[in-house]
Amino acid sequence: MKKVMVKLLSAAALAGMMVSPVQADEAAMAAAGADVFKRCEACHSVDSSKNAFGPSLIGVVGRQAASLPRFSYSEALQKSGITWTEDNLRQWVADNTKLVPGTRMRHVAITDTAEQDYLIAFLKTL
Ligand code: HEC
Repeated sequence: MKKVMVKLLSAAALAGMMVSPVQADEAAMAAAGADVFKRCEACHSVDSSKNAFGPSLIGVVGRQAASLPRFSYSEALQKSGITWTEDNLRQWVADNTKLVPGTRMRHVAITDTAEQDYLIAFLKTL
């Protein structure tokens, strides 16, 4: 019994050394974001940089909107002049048709700010 406790404690100490609380938070947020992303993955693949019904979202954070060469974007998104900053991504998932009227992406409404945080943490890992 005592041995088990010692083992558990040293495992915890080791884990504490390797993962700082901040990193652990980000990992937990990204994991929660993967769950929110289930509402996106019917159209956006994350397995590869291939486009599906929607453009690939690999490396999307910080990317210029409508900038993938092999995806046929709506004229509205091409002319938007948007860069996918965290703030713009928030507005996009809260109400994409308001941010870019005329976009081809079906309307989504993720208005919960915690869910937006999780989703963006997840997108950053792609
Ligand atoms: C019904 C299919 C569909 C769903 C569901 C969907 N999208 Fe999209 N998405 C698209 C299409 C189509 C486009 C291209 C829009 C255009 O050209 O106007 C797009 C574009 C985007 C872009 C712009 C990418 C770029 O290269 O500029 C982002 C970011 C994005 N979607 C994120 C999301 C997120 C996050 C979700 C889930 C909350 C989501 N999408 C759900 C189809 C979808």
